[in-house]
Amino acid sequence: MTAQLIDGNALSKTLRAEVATRAAALKARGVVPGLAVVLVGENPASQVYVRNKVKACEDSGLHSVLEKYPAELSEADLLARVEALNNDPAIHGILVQLPLPAQIDAQKVIEAIAPAKDVDGFHVASAGALMTGSPGFWPCTPYGCMKMLESIGYELRGKHAVVIGRSNIVGKPMALMLLAQSATVTICHSATADLGAMTRQADVVVAAVGKRNVLTADMVKPGAVVIDVGMNRNDEGKLCGDVDFAGVREVAGWITPVPGGVGPMTITMLLVNTIEAAERTAAASAT
Ligand code: GUN
Repeated sequence: MTAQLIDGNALSKTLRAEVATRAAALKARGVVPGLAVVLVGENPASQVYVRNKVKACEDSGLHSVLEKYPAELSEADLLARVEALNNDPAIHGILVQLPLPAQIDAQKVIEAIAPAKDVDGFHVASAGALMTGSPGFWPCTPYGCMKMLESIGYELRGKHAVVIGRSNIVGKPMALMLLAQSATVTICHSATADLGAMTRQADVVVAAVGKRNVLTADMVKPGAVVIDVGMNRNDEGKLCGDVDFAGVREVAGWITPVPGGVGPMTITMLLVNTIEAAERTAAASAT
């Protein structure tokens, strides 16, 4: 069996068109949804990510402001900028690109963002909201993975989902989202004794480690859904995920490619969170 592809570019196109429609409706009511993206320093990967985020906003009719600061920016100055953006009515979402330079405590900066504008979903209030099933913002990458599962009509209830990776921005929130859909969830990580024994039981595997070939064909149950969050380079410098795509696609039922899978969905869910933030603000000020 060759797995069917879950096309992140095609799904993104559909979801971004919905964002554009919602943005137009807000504009008709005099509200222009706005995202502020803050970049400190010149990390080349961050520069690419930030450029893509700003361009995606423009393409969907969202207003975006890119603030770039030198790598020497002090923590106090960055906190002051975040505070100004918290109080700026034209800004509905704030994203401070990570990593930050060593002199800045990233967690402190994230906690300074108003939870109502935390479109990255990294604030402890957002994490708590996800954990308790309260309204908040979900981190974009696992949120995008959930949308991909939804797009194939996959019923998670009663299924076994294995998440490989336990980061705060992907692994842990991913597990909570799958749990909320009544999957039985196992979180695996670098100290897991026998990863293959876990993944071979899984109906759904999400690989979010940041290492090539973490999941190979012998580790996958026939017909399973495989979501690859990895973004790595192979020996030829080509973009690849955490999954041995060529091998696993012969065993899995569904698989996400890299590139063209989870990557575009992450940016798409940032747009969704931003339009949601703007709608919530508009609804609150209308009452
Ligand atoms: N750095 C890499 N990915 C992300 C992301 O999704 N959000 C932020 N703020 N920084 C990142």
